[in-house]
Amino acid sequence: MANKKILVTGGTGFIGSHTVVELQQNGYDVIIVDNLSNSSIDVLDYIAKISGIMPAFEQFDLADGKLTAGFFNRNNNIDGIIHFAAFKAVGESMAKPLDYYRNNLQSLINLLEGMKTHAISNMVFSSSCTVYGQPDELPVTEKAPIKPAWSPYGNTKQMCEEILRFVTHSHPVHAIALRYFNPIGAHDSALIGELPLGVPNNLVPFITQTAIGKRECLSVFGNDYNTSDGTAVRDYIHVVDIAKAHVIAVERMLGGRSKSELEIFNLGTGTGYSVLDVINSFERVSGEKLNYKIVPRRPGDVEMVWADTRFANDELGWKAEKSLDEMMSSAWKWEKALVTRPV
Ligand code: WQD
Repeated sequence: MANKKILVTGGTGFIGSHTVVELQQNGYDVIIVDNLSNSSIDVLDYIAKISGIMPAFEQFDLADGKLTAGFFNRNNNIDGIIHFAAFKAVGESMAKPLDYYRNNLQSLINLLEGMKTHAISNMVFSSSCTVYGQPDELPVTEKAPIKPAWSPYGNTKQMCEEILRFVTHSHPVHAIALRYFNPIGAHDSALIGELPLGVPNNLVPFITQTAIGKRECLSVFGNDYNTSDGTAVRDYIHVVDIAKAHVIAVERMLGGRSKSELEIFNLGTGTGYSVLDVINSFERVSGEKLNYKIVPRRPGDVEMVWADTRFANDELGWKAEKSLDEMMSSAWKWEKALVTRPV
């Protein structure tokens, strides 16, 4: 019997590339669509180096309805979709809200049109803990009220989940939304990892780029939060733990085990760490002293958030396995491997 075929949008990106490897290693055929706006085509070669399989690839912008419809007309044997392709930086979205709404919403709508036309009935959607804003209660569960978003990025994820809630109700489409907390780290081969183009928005690549000498100094955005050390708290989770959850979600839907048209799961470790905790972990595992300074808070940041993971643990049979030190150690190994790469 032919392997099941999965479309991975944003598959040359950070979480996408790690998920492609896990899918391939679990016997799935993968086709990637990516516009390479925040990733490099070289990632395809590194995926193939890890898995031994070069994924199929098409480059175009999913926000373009005609190009997306054309893709589905050329590829009508798709069993499921994992949709990563989106702009995803909280801070950046404050400065470019319309880019975020146009890109993140239109891409999803075009994919759903293609699913309807070609009877593709399964989608895993890349959502985010940012849909919670600043939760009233911690750890935050999937049943927590969705509060007004703190950033256009978080708002697009809220709106995409709402689109899925209505579309899965009126069309023969199942979806699983995975609300990532803070994905960090890299594949233990150090062949794929977080590779932001330009100045990183996220904490961990900025830490490792500072330590390797690409950046002068890390700015810690605020130490006047109501937390143990004044710096903001997040639930950092290894990207490979996140990737494994996507394979489980695909298998749940293809196996007909979904219990409703739209299911939503938190992907976190259940433990919150402050920015200074992350810096201390990095210094411990790398032996490097990090150059950083405290600066004012970043607009759009919440104070603290970490996951209640019981639903994903019990219902998906999935649990994050890697520790913060393992996450930071893999991130540092990846940064050092990048130095040896041909430019
Ligand atoms: C983490 C903490 C910053 C940079 C991310 C993704 C988003 C979503 C949720 C998946 C915050 C602080 C950061 C820096 C700093 N993930 N920081 N100096 O904003 O929590 O959101 O996870 O969907 O896509 O963006 O992550 O890494 O930007 O920030 O002090 O140079 O580190 O203030 O407290 P964030 P982040």
